Amino acid sequence: MTDFQPAFADAELSDNDSRAVTISGQRVLICRAGGTLYAVENRCTHQDAELEGGRIRGCFISCPLHGVRFDLRDGSAMGQLTKTPLTVYQVREVAGMIEVAVT
Ligand code: FES
Repeated sequence: MTDFQPAFADAELSDNDSRAVTISGQRVLICRAGGTLYAVENRCTHQDAELEGGRIRGCFISCPLHGVRFDLRDGSAMGQLTKTPLTVYQVREVAGMIEVAVT
């Protein structure tokens, strides 16, 4: 069963911005890119840097530490530093609240 849990109010996240939350012990980064919500694990698969605040362009986020780009749609990594994708989570907006499913 998909278990969505509330993260924060939809109005708190601007477009092309990201915000980290911990839900059920998972570090999750919620992003709004081009008006669409995405949720990925908030830990770069290269050397574990937090991705919060990384530059968002199109549907990609760049790791603030060494710049690996990840596709927010499926977590896939671009470039040579890592081939390991990010875990992606289902995310939705319900009645002004962003909700994420981490299980
Ligand atoms: S830790 Fe993210 S690119 Fe190196």
